[in-house]
Amino acid sequence: MENLLVTGGSGFIGSNFIRYLLKDTDFKGRIVNLDKLTYAGNPENLVGLEEIFPGRYIFIKADICSMDAIEPLFRDYKIDTVCHFAAESHVDRSIVGPSDFIQTNIIGTFNLLECARKYRDNIRLFHHVSTDEVFGSLGKDGLFTETTSYKPNSPYSASKASSDHLVRAYFKTYNLPVTISNCSNNYGPYQFPEKLIPLIIINALSETELPVYGDGKNVRDWLYVKDHCSAIKMVMDRGKRGETYNIGGNNEMENIRIVELICDYLDNCERPKMHKSRRELITFVKDRPGHDRRYAIDSTKIQRELGWHPSESFETGLEKTIRWYLENRGWIDHVKSGEYQSWIDKQYGKSI
Ligand code: NAD
Ligand code: TYD
Repeated sequence: MENLLVTGGSGFIGSNFIRYLLKDTDFKGRIVNLDKLTYAGNPENLVGLEEIFPGRYIFIKADICSMDAIEPLFRDYKIDTVCHFAAESHVDRSIVGPSDFIQTNIIGTFNLLECARKYRDNIRLFHHVSTDEVFGSLGKDGLFTETTSYKPNSPYSASKASSDHLVRAYFKTYNLPVTISNCSNNYGPYQFPEKLIPLIIINALSETELPVYGDGKNVRDWLYVKDHCSAIKMVMDRGKRGETYNIGGNNEMENIRIVELICDYLDNCERPKMHKSRRELITFVKDRPGHDRRYAIDSTKIQRELGWHPSESFETGLEKTIRWYLENRGWIDHVKSGEYQSWIDKQYGKSI
């Protein structure tokens, strides 16, 4: 990996991945971060990296749906490796408006694959970051393995499933060197507060309603974001080309339990001003249409074949996450006020 193209590097996992590569690993190459800066892409997540790592971190604002914008980057920056995070990532938004999900997640991935095919002689790896949601919903028992059949239920997961199939097809048809990872729900610093954990932390801090969908008993399998980053790096370094790897931390938890844990942790750090306990703010709301009941990952393959293990338990990871949000109120305020969005508009103009 000398010239690594990271797509979606200004989002939650992408920004953690770029920091991880530059600060915590043996990576010596150059990172080109290609990001459209949608509502979910925040330049503040990577502030200062250009100065700290001169020449090794470059940001390009571009849309993966525009072939004209992305194709020259492969040539100009002599890209040899791609790590593809860019996506519309929120299930609820995909239910309200699926169109952007089809464009970015399917057409955008297709465009990147086409660029990689065109510059095939330079490309050592195209790594595609995907989700366990492509497998659909589990009942009480069982785990998703790499051979579980795809059964996506939301426009988001269907668009990601489609992109996974395209990546796999480029391996089979064109022999493009690819790897795919399907990971469970991530949490940690810099996550946009539309997803459960940051939304609950931020609402609980300001003592506003904590919305829990349905009966709150849906189960997700949570992984601390840095553990996801270390798994991706390992797959990129040592994963077998053409293979998929499931990534998960064995941390199944009902949503309501997570919300209660966050309330209790925050009550201990900062007494609520308007309530006896933040648990009083929990409000059961109308369920999400097609809400998957349970996700759970069997990550035996990556553990056995590559020796990956998560470092954080749910308790230690959640504590680190809550502490990060407590210590980064400025980041929260900017995201909530849309301040960074106006900064983007000023810096780059509204259109791309
Ligand atoms: P995110 O929404 O926080 O970030 C997505 C990034 O992609 C943003 O920076 C956004 O600006 C950028 N982007 C969106 N559309 C773009 C386009 N057309 N062109 C260029 N850039 C564009 O998402 P995330 O949570 O960091 O997820 C990253 C990847 O990991 C996604 O592919 C997602 O499917 C996958 N994933 C996420 C989770 C999770 O729990 N968050 C779990 C497993 C897999
Ligand atoms: P989310 O963070 O949106 O991730 P995903 O839907 O990709 O798993 O949601 C995690 C779980 O939390 C999911 O079961 C939906 C639920 N949820 C709530 O109960 N309330 C909320 O406000 C949100 C955003 C999610």
